[in-house]
Amino acid sequence: MPIQIVQSIADARSTCRLQNRQGKSVGLVPTMGFLHEGHLSLVRQARSDNDFVVVSVFVNPTQFLPSEDFDTYPQNFEQDQRLLEDEGVDLIFFPSTKEMYCSSNSTFVEVTGQLTTNLCAISRPHFFRGVATVVAKLFNIVEPDRAYFGHKDAQQLAIIQRMVQDLNFDIEVVPMPIVRDSDGLAKSSRNSYLNPDQRRSSTVLFRALQHAKTLITQGERSSNRILAEMEKMIQATEYTRIDYINIVCTTSFEPQEYINSEVLIAIAVWITNTRLIDSIRIDPANLTS
Ligand code: PAF
Repeated sequence: MPIQIVQSIADARSTCRLQNRQGKSVGLVPTMGFLHEGHLSLVRQARSDNDFVVVSVFVNPTQFLPSEDFDTYPQNFEQDQRLLEDEGVDLIFFPSTKEMYCSSNSTFVEVTGQLTTNLCAISRPHFFRGVATVVAKLFNIVEPDRAYFGHKDAQQLAIIQRMVQDLNFDIEVVPMPIVRDSDGLAKSSRNSYLNPDQRRSSTVLFRALQHAKTLITQGERSSNRILAEMEKMIQATEYTRIDYINIVCTTSFEPQEYINSEVLIAIAVWITNTRLIDSIRIDPANLTS
């Protein structure tokens, strides 16, 4: 079957409902397009788990501030379409902003509490409301059995899991591992903004996280000491400005003073004008090397 490209909510809904009625499972991969290997790993998992795979391509305006990169966010729909055809995707949902948000739109979904007040929420306070709102809309349109999100956006993933639980969506959220370049940089559509010098500096996010892991493996348990070492390493790297580095509980996202159970070490760094995020989960009871 050739890939279907659908721009209207009504068409996406009726096509997905038909699959449901025929007893077919539907998997959804929400994206903002400009697809890379990270997205494709979600698509492949969705393909192997479901009868019908939907990928949404929508640059969601409500998760950007006026000062952010909404207008310049990288897009290449033809390339996305080719990649998704090669992966055997059934339907691309590619709505316009007008289709997704009518001019009188005044309803938003907001997850509250620690999950949405620290880390990325400090410098991007609007962000998770926009993400939760558009993901809830996509869930209502596609009504998938499963939806796929990467650990790369660890806080986004936790917020969506919370929303699914709190709003009783009958959807399995499938978390997928971070996909990295060979030098450790986590795949991101925004990596395309980096020039070669900035690209070289950008590996410091992964190196700082690996350094933290080494310190913990060697027995260090003080978050402050680990964070200070990471900070030193990043500050010594050209083009960088730290947005945040933090060590938090993987479920509550409360900052942890000491590492006694599984933690998320999360980091956001500006490389000149490009903000990159990365994270690792470390369980001190289960260190491999
Ligand atoms: O992770 C993203 O690309 C976006 O935040 C998402 C989940 C597609 C919502 O716009």
